[in-house]
Amino acid sequence: MFVEPRPGGQAVWQRLWVPPPGLIEITDLLFERNPDGTRAPVRRASVVQHCVEHGDRWAAGIVAEMPSTDGWLDPEYVDRLMVAVHCEIQRLSEEFRHGARMAELLVPLLATLGRCGQPPPYRVVDVGCGTGYVVRWLSDWCTTPDVEFVGVDLNPALVDAARNLAARDGVRCRFEVADAFSLTEPATVLISTGVMHHFRGPDLDRFFAAHERSGAAAFVHLDFQASRLAPIGSWLFHHTRMRLAVTRHDGIRSAQRAHGTDVLSESATNNAKRFETMISRPSVRFTPLPCVLTVLIGTLSGLGQPLLEELGTAARRFNPLR
Ligand SMILES: C[S@@+](CC[C@H](N)C(=O)[O-])C[C@H]1O[C@@H](n2cnc3c(N)ncnc32)[C@H](O)[C@@H]1O
Repeated sequence: MFVEPRPGGQAVWQRLWVPPPGLIEITDLLFERNPDGTRAPVRRASVVQHCVEHGDRWAAGIVAEMPSTDGWLDPEYVDRLMVAVHCEIQRLSEEFRHGARMAELLVPLLATLGRCGQPPPYRVVDVGCGTGYVVRWLSDWCTTPDVEFVGVDLNPALVDAARNLAARDGVRCRFEVADAFSLTEPATVLISTGVMHHFRGPDLDRFFAAHERSGAAAFVHLDFQASRLAPIGSWLFHHTRMRLAVTRHDGIRSAQRAHGTDVLSESATNNAKRFETMISRPSVRFTPLPCVLTVLIGTLSGLGQPLLEELGTAARRFNPLR
């Protein structure tokens, strides 16, 4: 069992209603790579200072308790923590049916590609797959040899865990440690769940620009949507379903960091220029209630209209952007 030191921190109302000026997630700060791709040691004091500089005393308190040797974070501890956190995140993916939601969009998307001169086989690549829940779910659901599912993540510990879980589940899929945009065997469709909000400002622009060089024909990205209710909903869910301090912290910060549809639309339109993009409407139809999730779909130019036709009544959920 994974045991985590007790965190220091703030009162719940402060965590929810007074977000720090610089919104950060702890899991983004614990794993670093050298330019040659090898793992770089991480100094605990530097991470704590980064949290303090971003005004996040809650995060600083959690990191300050993590085990270290001569001031360097213990890499084995970090690996076990990252896997444990992502196993907890799977509860969220199960609750919000990330696998089924992705499948509902992949069916019309792959049908569109087939109709528009791109016959199978197809390679569906999950960018930042974590422990691979969505890839494992999709591989279990779709067993046709025409579609290959590949999970890609920069973090080797997560990829190892994904491989072990896939072997245990007996599903046919692959996991790779790599940059998902620079694969030797490129994706036909790039997908992701809960990843877009990790890229902010110029990094979000670079994320969409990377789609241009990836060789993919389409992308489907699913993430939580920004709304006033999101942090409280996230707190409730994480308080009842999650146990690790890091998961609880990052869960609430994810909701606070979630991008609005305007930010995603602008960045995707300006940077993934070869693609026609569409984004799901921000509120539930005929109500002012915000949707929990946002879906951004991109297809190479000329495929947008055929995709809307394949989507049928589900097309009403989307606003075409370009
Ligand atoms: C929040 S985590 C994974 C979430 C995962 N999709 C899930 O639902 O559990 C985001 C992951 O994206 C990975 N990542 C970021 N940029 C990437 C890239 N260019 N290629 C592959 N993985 C990437 C990071 O290593 C990190 O593990």
